[in-house]
Amino acid sequence: MKKILVLYYSQSGQLKSVVDSFISKLGDKDIKVDVRGIEPVVAYPYPWSFYEFFDEFPDAAHMKGCEVHEIKNLQDDYDLIVLGYTIWFLAPSSPIVGFMKSNQAKKLFENKPVITLIACRDMWVMAQEKVKKLLSDVGAKLIDNVALTDQGKGIYSFATTPRWLLSGKKDAFWIFPPAGILQSDIDDASRFGHRLNEALKSDKEKRDEPLLKNLGAVSVNGKLIASEIIATRSFYIWGKIINFCGKKKSFSRKIAITVYTIFLALMVFTLVPINILVRKILNYFQKDRLKELEKKYEEPSGR
Ligand SMILES: Cc1cc2nc3c(=O)[nH]c(=O)nc-3n(C[C@H](O)[C@H](O)[C@H](O)COP(=O)(O)O)c2cc1C
Repeated sequence: MKKILVLYYSQSGQLKSVVDSFISKLGDKDIKVDVRGIEPVVAYPYPWSFYEFFDEFPDAAHMKGCEVHEIKNLQDDYDLIVLGYTIWFLAPSSPIVGFMKSNQAKKLFENKPVITLIACRDMWVMAQEKVKKLLSDVGAKLIDNVALTDQGKGIYSFATTPRWLLSGKKDAFWIFPPAGILQSDIDDASRFGHRLNEALKSDKEKRDEPLLKNLGAVSVNGKLIASEIIATRSFYIWGKIINFCGKKKSFSRKIAITVYTIFLALMVFTLVPINILVRKILNYFQKDRLKELEKKYEEPSGR
């Protein structure tokens, strides 16, 4: 009998539906799947108010992690762990960070093969690098990564995802498509569980090799990598400034958040278009380098 542990934290239920689809063809009399949600001690709001959303930004960008409840009645001998997570400000969400830093995670993950399962807007590459570090800190072995991203890529989801998170509205409006991941992409995630079921029956998870190759598990857009690196640095610095200005919910911090969001809006309308143009020109001369980077960040599962 093989035992698979699936951990996740989902606010709106979108990542949970990705998890449900992923495991829909996984498990039978020989494979037991244990699905558990991670619960923060102090629940996060959903939908978020504007200030609550940005109040979380410094902690997320600095990977502080929040306090989470211990998960009860877990086994300690799982054959494989699937870690489902969403991205908050280019980092794994705070409940996932909190859990990965807990003593329970240290005991559960040591020497275990792990598959990460991401559901986010569009930018997960730097967050996955951070998760790799969290996994290596607890002695786990990352063997696969699956990443599903929102429909209406890039420019559209810059508007549809914040609207959804701040109002709960996911529907299409004006020229914009609905927010979130396409239902067909969610449904298709069952192919991963199907492949896993076969692989587990022949003990392939013990070889520390990827099990989900050639299934379109991830697709990295090389042109976004530089923006993610720059934004991660900028988030880190602004996170420090906002933290310096006061504790969560304080008036002084609200002022800092207001200044930051004005700066962010100015950046989006000025420097970001200039950056896109400059990158387009640079990328033209760096096609091979971009391909190399895509390949690197698409490891271990690949396209
Ligand atoms: C505070 C916050 C920050 C987010 N930042 C990012 C981000 O940097 N990159 C990204 O691709 N998605 C980002 N998202 C979107 C989430 O990754 C995810 O798609 C969305 O919250 C839905 O997940 P759910 O299943 O928890 O409802 C953010 C969401 C929240 C709540």
